[in-house]
Amino acid sequence: MAGVIRAAPTGLFLREFLKAPAGVGAVWPSSERLAQGMAARIDPQGDGLVVELGAGTGVVTQALLDQGVSAERLRVVECAPAFVRHLRQRFPGVAILQGDAAQLSDVLDASAPGIPVDAIVSSLPLRSLEAGVVSAVLDQCRTLLRPGCPLIQFTYALRGLPAAELSDGFELRSDRSIWANLPPARVITLARVSEPESAQIG
Ligand SMILES: C[S@@+](CC[C@H](N)C(=O)[O-])C[C@H]1O[C@@H](n2cnc3c(N)ncnc32)[C@H](O)[C@@H]1O
Repeated sequence: MAGVIRAAPTGLFLREFLKAPAGVGAVWPSSERLAQGMAARIDPQGDGLVVELGAGTGVVTQALLDQGVSAERLRVVECAPAFVRHLRQRFPGVAILQGDAAQLSDVLDASAPGIPVDAIVSSLPLRSLEAGVVSAVLDQCRTLLRPGCPLIQFTYALRGLPAAELSDGFELRSDRSIWANLPPARVITLARVSEPESAQIG
């Protein structure tokens, strides 16, 4: 049954951090308060997908389900096999997709071809991933998200955006500090802007 495991498996998280520090980007799982702060930005109604990137131990996945996002709409993308095994055990009714967020359209196509994306919720460590990976991930987000729909990203940066490319094709909607997290974090919500008409015609 989804949601039985509430305490974050910190041992698993630490082991995965030691294997891939830049990819995990934190030594401690996200707090429930941070996860709730991200999930609260999602409209639980709607027919498009809600895509979670870099789910790790599943704290944010649980918050999305608690927010009322149906398991049918949710696609959870994670690259680390140990986290994927854990997530599949914790959320048997949710599509847990093992893959690289930099190839998101291929990963989603294998599970839900042609379904539009209404929201992307990302715990990816944009400040520690390689620049090429960050560019590819954000290109995918720009391509897949419906105009006006949100990209929600958390960061430990005290100010500014965690990646400069987030200002390209997105506009900032909200920026909220979450103090009840180790370390304190910010939840940044951006909206995908429409292509300018000239770009659509050309
Ligand atoms: C900050 S951790 C996740 C924190 C998560 N909210 C938690 O509390 O467990 C970032 C996650 O992104 C995953 N990740 C990093 N690069 C990725 C990529 N290119 N594609 C998919 N997942 C990736 C890592 O394996 C890790 O689980």
